[in-house]
Amino acid sequence: MKGSMEKILTDLLRDAGEIIMEQRDTQIASRRSMSDYTTVTDVRVEAFITQHLQKYFPESVIIGEEFSSSRNSLQLKGSAFVLDPIDGTVNFFHGYPAFAISLAYVENYSIRQAYIYDPANGEFFFAAKNEGAFLNDSFISVSQARTLSESLIGFGTAYNKELGKKEIEIVTKIYERCHDVRRRGAASLDVAYVACGRLDGYLEMELKPWDFYAGLLILEEAGGKACNWKGLPIQDLVNQNLLCTNNLIHQELFNLVREL
Ligand code: IPD
Ligand code: CA
Ligand code: CA
Ligand code: CA
Repeated sequence: MKGSMEKILTDLLRDAGEIIMEQRDTQIASRRSMSDYTTVTDVRVEAFITQHLQKYFPESVIIGEEFSSSRNSLQLKGSAFVLDPIDGTVNFFHGYPAFAISLAYVENYSIRQAYIYDPANGEFFFAAKNEGAFLNDSFISVSQARTLSESLIGFGTAYNKELGKKEIEIVTKIYERCHDVRRRGAASLDVAYVACGRLDGYLEMELKPWDFYAGLLILEEAGGKACNWKGLPIQDLVNQNLLCTNNLIHQELFNLVREL
């Protein structure tokens, strides 16, 4: 039987998924650059989830993309939720079915539970610390690919076009050495796809904590490995150049992205 927190959060994310799918309101609420914008649904879903989290878990801090990103410091001490109400807003806006709600529950700097819900495809990724990772209630694990030459690699391109062009340059080097590369447009799902073996690795620069926090636990519980481009483990709630792999190809892929 599901624990009570898991049941509350699973139901909450499914309800939020219905708001995304049924209201499909893609009006732009704010715009920061050509590719970086927020729809009214991003704000509506964050408000909906936040209200319920405050009701059920009043002692926890909520760090969400739309309401917290202007804060100067983001603290994880005590218990906290890290929330991306729609990861993949550009996809949502265009009707491209690759977007997700991403929610991590953290206690004293350690991610305890992670939820990534892809409502367009009916896929729910979940992990609890030391209890494994799941997709729609079935255990998942990373792929068995041993070398880059037998791998499919996901990547992201930052909203900042100059950074995005640098990412494409690095990915060009990787592309020459692997089966193929994929840019799907929702970082949380990219990490979850490494966890369930659909991708063998994934990399992106300057990700925000809410893009990947839930994914980190799902990946770890599925046997994968994450680090930043300096090779360090991800600890603080700060932007990261992220590298995720099935563990087996980690060193080989890291050698191509490492920052000296
Ligand atoms: C973005 C998506 C995208 C990634 C960007 C993220 P958002 O999140 O995850 O795939 O390339 O770096 O910011 O803004 O759609 O929540
Ligand atoms: Ca955004
Ligand atoms: Ca995001
Ligand atoms: Ca978002």
